[in-house]
Amino acid sequence: MGTPLLLATWSFSLPAVQRVLELRTGLEDPLDACEAICSEAERTEDVDSVGYGGLPDASGVVTLDAMVMRSPRENGAVCCVQDHLEVTRLARLVMDRTPSMMIAGAAADRLAATHGLEERVLLAPSAREAWFEWSRSGRKRAHRPEPGLRPHDRGRDAPGALFAPGAGEASGPDSEDRWRYHDTIGVLARTSDGRLAGACSTSGMPFKPPGRVGDSPMIGQGLYVDPEWGMAVCTGEGELIMGSCAAHAAIERLRGGLTPDHAAREVLERIDHAFELEKHHQVGIIVCAPDGAHSAVSLREGFRWVVGDDRGARVMEPEFVLHPGT
Ligand code: GLY
Repeated sequence: MGTPLLLATWSFSLPAVQRVLELRTGLEDPLDACEAICSEAERTEDVDSVGYGGLPDASGVVTLDAMVMRSPRENGAVCCVQDHLEVTRLARLVMDRTPSMMIAGAAADRLAATHGLEERVLLAPSAREAWFEWSRSGRKRAHRPEPGLRPHDRGRDAPGALFAPGAGEASGPDSEDRWRYHDTIGVLARTSDGRLAGACSTSGMPFKPPGRVGDSPMIGQGLYVDPEWGMAVCTGEGELIMGSCAAHAAIERLRGGLTPDHAAREVLERIDHAFELEKHHQVGIIVCAPDGAHSAVSLREGFRWVVGDDRGARVMEPEFVLHPGT
């Protein structure tokens, strides 16, 4: 069996993609590769949007969402997990060990405990400090959004720190009253004999309203895999992705005969048409056809992705940016 094709959001996924290629994880089962890459991000404190290190909600509580998918029949998701870090693994347990497709909140934590997953405090010191700073800014008391800041991938300068001060500062007339941006690790994997799988994991929007769940654990929104037509994963502003069912929309376009690149571009254009975009809004989409043809696009600059294959792993710029220079 040859090297699998691995496609992952954001440059912070590079070390995990490299490790999976070195260890030859996922040669037989592409979901093993997806899970290994998401799990590494979940354990890494420097990644401020996933797992340990993920920024908490407005009340200072970290809640995690994740999803895995092989096909419309075979998928699993969890949301609002508060006491367990290994949410991608937990989503896979939902898929493999329960009749359900999604388990939420305390019940998901109970399922994790039942299957022996380690209970963990999810709030990292760096995330606690960021939350205190946000609380002190007065925005919490006034229920005001954050100043313009969107996830901005600075690659080697600060891998994982997508929301660090100055990372994606937006400027201009609508730079006030914006929520901070957020992102997700999303991974698509294809074995050399053409089997597909995907996974994604996130702590969601920084300082989100308690109880808010984004696109990542929602089938067809943050992730969709259909062995017959292809797979897509999204990152960025969950509400834009949810409202447009972006991952499923991309696969429907593949089914209609478009290439991965055109399918992804059309979904971005659909989002652009359906929403009044603000400067902090960012969405990245990776689409892959069953034959391995793939592309990644984004609404704005600052999105990067990682490709891993028999030539190794590398960080890439998106093939297409809908609003270049923004
Ligand atoms: N894209 C992750 C979220 O909005 O929660």
